[in-house]
Formats: sequence, structure tokens, C-alpha cells
Amino acid sequence: MPDQQFKNAEKLPPYIFAQINELKQIARSKGEDVIDFGMGNPDQPTPNPIVEKLIEAVNNPSTHRYSQSAGLPKLRNAMKNWYSRKYSVELDSDSEIVTCMGSKEGIAHLALATLSNNDDVLVQSPTYPIHSYGVVIAGANLHSISLNNDLDKFLFDIEDAIKSASKKPKMIIINFPSNPTTQSADLSFFKKIIDIGKKYDIWIIHDLAYADIVFDGYKAPSILEVEGAKDIAVEFFTLSKSYNMPGWRVGFCCGNQKLVQALTKIKSYMDYGTFTPIQVAAIKAINDCDENVSEICSMYESRRDELCNGLKRIGWDVQKPLATMFVWAKIPDNYLHLGSLEFSKLLIEHANVAVSPGAGFGEGGDSYVRFSLIENEHRIRQAIRGIKNFFSMEVR
Ligand SMILES: Cc1ncc(COP(=O)(O)O)c(C=O)c1O
Repeated sequence: MPDQQFKNAEKLPPYIFAQINELKQIARSKGEDVIDFGMGNPDQPTPNPIVEKLIEAVNNPSTHRYSQSAGLPKLRNAMKNWYSRKYSVELDSDSEIVTCMGSKEGIAHLALATLSNNDDVLVQSPTYPIHSYGVVIAGANLHSISLNNDLDKFLFDIEDAIKSASKKPKMIIINFPSNPTTQSADLSFFKKIIDIGKKYDIWIIHDLAYADIVFDGYKAPSILEVEGAKDIAVEFFTLSKSYNMPGWRVGFCCGNQKLVQALTKIKSYMDYGTFTPIQVAAIKAINDCDENVSEICSMYESRRDELCNGLKRIGWDVQKPLATMFVWAKIPDNYLHLGSLEFSKLLIEHANVAVSPGAGFGEGGDSYVRFSLIENEHRIRQAIRGIKNFFSMEVR
């Protein structure tokens, strides 16, 4: 029998969400109508102009060959212009922007390109799993810094972790607006974290996946707006959420040239780039589809209101997020002792409602469940009725 020690795969824990998916399948096989707030997987179609552009491009046979790993120059140029018009940030599209097959792939490969066994990395927790597991897969040492609503405390804890470490961390990975906590930040926060990075010479990686999914007049800043941020930081952006393009796999890493070039190099060995017609359609999205982005954002805002107001009416008072496609709901006191996995199982069994257990996002998540806003208002009202009914059963 060949050696069955697969070290990298074994470093990864079993996927906690798999247990919920299994229960969902069981309930569905019994004919139950499960209302699914589980994955952050946009439910609406990609806007028409983008789909039409894809069809036009795919009908041109010259687009069928290997594409460019770093992304078509016109696509990187569209991203450059996006930063300029949205944030007044100027980037060089050749050396400071690389296209990725979604930001998840980009984050994982940036970690692989830049980290090694002896490196320590600070990552906010709870967080989107690739922020932590990208570090683990790369073989570096993960140090989770918990974030609980208080950004000043978070900054203090980061600096404290740096000062008390025997060896200086190499990198800090952050994500605002945040998945799953929905925590948002303003520019002064980014200034402070860049100051910390510069003071101690530490790279900063920022994931801006929810740049456009913002409500109540809030504008999510780019870390690159901070003067001199490019000296030590890169930012990831994705078309998945802003343009309902999760399956298309288009994202970007922008900013510091050294980091962007390290990612570009490792990717040039691993892939031939996203299929050209998808890149051509992505150019259309970034250049011409701002109105579609506003509509997508309004849809999430309306679902957020329906869910938060509905939960409040039945006695589950959750915080309304300023951004993202999630609601991060503290488990009601009566059920808190169960932890997030058991509480999520009860929600499926007794309310036909699937959510993501907070424990799946790392330390500090177990008192919460995450609702993704991927069901429409009608289904949200149906879910609220199910949860109300479950609460009245007093199953604990
Ligand atoms: C914070 C965050 N980053 C990255 C991603 C993945 O984005 P992509 O589809 O570009 O890989 C997600 C998806 O849910 C996310 O929430």
C-alpha cells in the first residue's frame, strides 16, 4: 500500500458545514421545504449585459486558446479605472494588479507564494475560512486575533500580539466589511492598521469582497486609500458578490508590487488564466454595469430589513448589518449553552431553516449563527414563521 500520509490535506479539519449540508439533504429527501440561508452563494442570475458579452466572446474562436494567467491587459486596465473612479486610488495595471480565479484562489496562492514554515501570520477571527487555512496550507503558523465589535481593542490586541511574540509576524490578514461578522470599518481604522504594519514592517492583506454590498449610506473604504498603503499592503476584490458572478471565478489582487508579482509568478506556474470569454465579460461588468450593482445592493438591503425586523418581532433581536450579504445573529440566551452546531441542527429539524454555525468560522464564532441573504422576502417571512414555531416548542 502506498504511503497514505497526506500532510497538507490532513492539516485541514473536517468541514463543519458538511454536517449541516447532510441534515439539509436528509430533510429535503423527506420532502421538507428547507429555507436555506447557509452558503454565501448569490442566488440571482448574472446581469444580462454580462451574459450577452460572454456569448458574443465565446462565439469568437480566437478566444478558445489558453488565456493569460495574470489576466488580459484590458481587464487589468478596467480594474485600474475602477479603483481610480471609486476610490481615487491610482494603480499601475501591469505591475500592481493581477487577476485571480476568484479571490479565494488568489488569497490561498498569495499565502503559498509568500509564506514558509517559520512564518507567523495574524488573522482576524472569526473569519472567512481561506484567510486562516490559506496560512495553514502554506505551512506557516496561524495566530488568530479575536474581533468582537470593538475595532480599537482589535488594533490593541494586534499590536500586543506583535510586541509579545518572540519573532515578528510576517503578515496580517483582515477583511472589512467582514464575513461572517459583518463588521465594517472606516478609513481611520485602515490608517491605524497601516501605521502598525509600517511601524513593525509587516505585510497587510485586505479582503474587500463586500466593497459594493453596503447599506444606509455607508461606503466601504479601500485600504489602498490610505497614503503609502501600497508600501506594505494588497487588497483583494471579487466580481462574485457585486455582479452576481460567483460561478465565473473572477477576482483581483491589487497594490504592493512585490506581493502582486509573487502571486503573479506562482500563478504563472499553476494556471493559464480564466477562460478568455469570461475575462471579456468581466471587462463589461466593471466598465458598464454600475446600475446593476446598485440593484443587487438594494435587493440585499431589502432582505436584510425583512429578516432583521422579522426576527426582532419574534423576540430574536439581531444587529442590522451596515454591509455584506449576511446577518450575524447571536444565539438567543435560552439556546446559547447548545453551541452553534447543535442550535443550527435544531433550526433545520424544527424550523426547516438552514444557517451556518458560527463555530465554522473560527474562535469566537460559537455563540453565533450566520444567515446568508440568499432567500427572497417571501421565503424569509416563511422562515420567521418556522423559527417562531420552533421557539414556542421549547426544545432546548
Ligand atoms: C470575505 C470573502 N472573501 C472571499 C470570498 C470568495 O470570493 P470569490 O468568489 O472571489 O473566491 C468570499 C465568499 O463568500 C468572502 O465572503
